[in-house]
Amino acid sequence: MSDESAKPRVLLVDDESAVWQILGEKLGRSGFEWRGRSSAEDALDCLEQEHFDAIVSDLKMPGMTGLQLLAEVQKRHPHLAFVMATGEDDIRVGVDAMKHGADDYLVKPFHLDVAVESVRRALRKKSMETELEKYRHQLEEMVERRTHQLQVAMKRIERAYDETLEALGAALDLRDTETAGHSRRVSLYCLEIARAIGCTNEQLKTIARGAYLHDIGKIGIPDSVLLKQGKLTLEEMTVMQTHVRIGYELLSRIPFLSSASKIVLAHQERYDGAGYPQGRVGEEIPLGARIFAVADTLDAMTSDRPYRQALPFSTAREEIIRESGKQFDPDVVRVFLSLPEQTWENIRHHVASARERVNHRDPDEEEPFVREMLVN
Ligand SMILES: [Fe+2]
Repeated sequence: MSDESAKPRVLLVDDESAVWQILGEKLGRSGFEWRGRSSAEDALDCLEQEHFDAIVSDLKMPGMTGLQLLAEVQKRHPHLAFVMATGEDDIRVGVDAMKHGADDYLVKPFHLDVAVESVRRALRKKSMETELEKYRHQLEEMVERRTHQLQVAMKRIERAYDETLEALGAALDLRDTETAGHSRRVSLYCLEIARAIGCTNEQLKTIARGAYLHDIGKIGIPDSVLLKQGKLTLEEMTVMQTHVRIGYELLSRIPFLSSASKIVLAHQERYDGAGYPQGRVGEEIPLGARIFAVADTLDAMTSDRPYRQALPFSTAREEIIRESGKQFDPDVVRVFLSLPEQTWENIRHHVASARERVNHRDPDEEEPFVREMLVN
């Protein structure tokens, strides 16, 4: 009902106007407003022009029948309570009408008190249904709102994760300045190859994080080894190699980095099994680590080292082809070769200019690097 204080309005439809006249007067005395119409077609017109809360319709009428009217009313005025009036012979049809959405049915000739009670019952039923519908709608809205809030919270958490990750990377950069920029470039190279392979978004995230933090275990390597100028002794080499396990131990305990930690552990493995720490072979090595191996060599060769100038991309490319099936997974090499050389040069340039901007950035406005590279 549109207005609680207003009288409920009932439309009576019967081809015998005497029927609705008597019932109407009774309804009037019982606190209802009413109108009468002699055909379903007229009733529909009337419903277009005035507001009603309930309709009592005869089943058998010339032209449109009560059941047809019921179907139309359900389509056009679904909140209207509907009472179907049937003759004694048509009780089965009355029950049928309820199955099709009528709220009650009446048997003619009417017992007037029963008819009024039936209209009241239909109105109560309809209003309960409307309340339920409203409640369901509110529930849906609430679920939608909560889902949205949850998504926002998840995004914030992910962002915080990536900020943590960047802080970890920065901590390593401080100790090992030679590799500054290396982690970023390698992550971006890995993403290019992984995208071309067709990795899922989840895999891309793991690969980006694993590649970015691949050398995080170097935090645990003593300066005398990590920063030593010149060749490492065999013993020092063994100490240096522990960085993959240190990195793995560090990250595997952090739930959002546990998949990435597997890449960290395997980043020095070789496709032919001659790598460390486990000497894994072929596909035993996680895909992310197999991709990383190619990206890492590409970056190492095309970067300046204290003992030599950066080599051209074409030289790195030849080396990667030569090591296909030995150090590198031939499938990854194939995908790498299918990508234009310009891709790598663009990334190197992008990372270099991003590092120049680093002193001028507003940390609140800038996306964490790992996030930024996944978006781009
Ligand atoms: Fe490493």
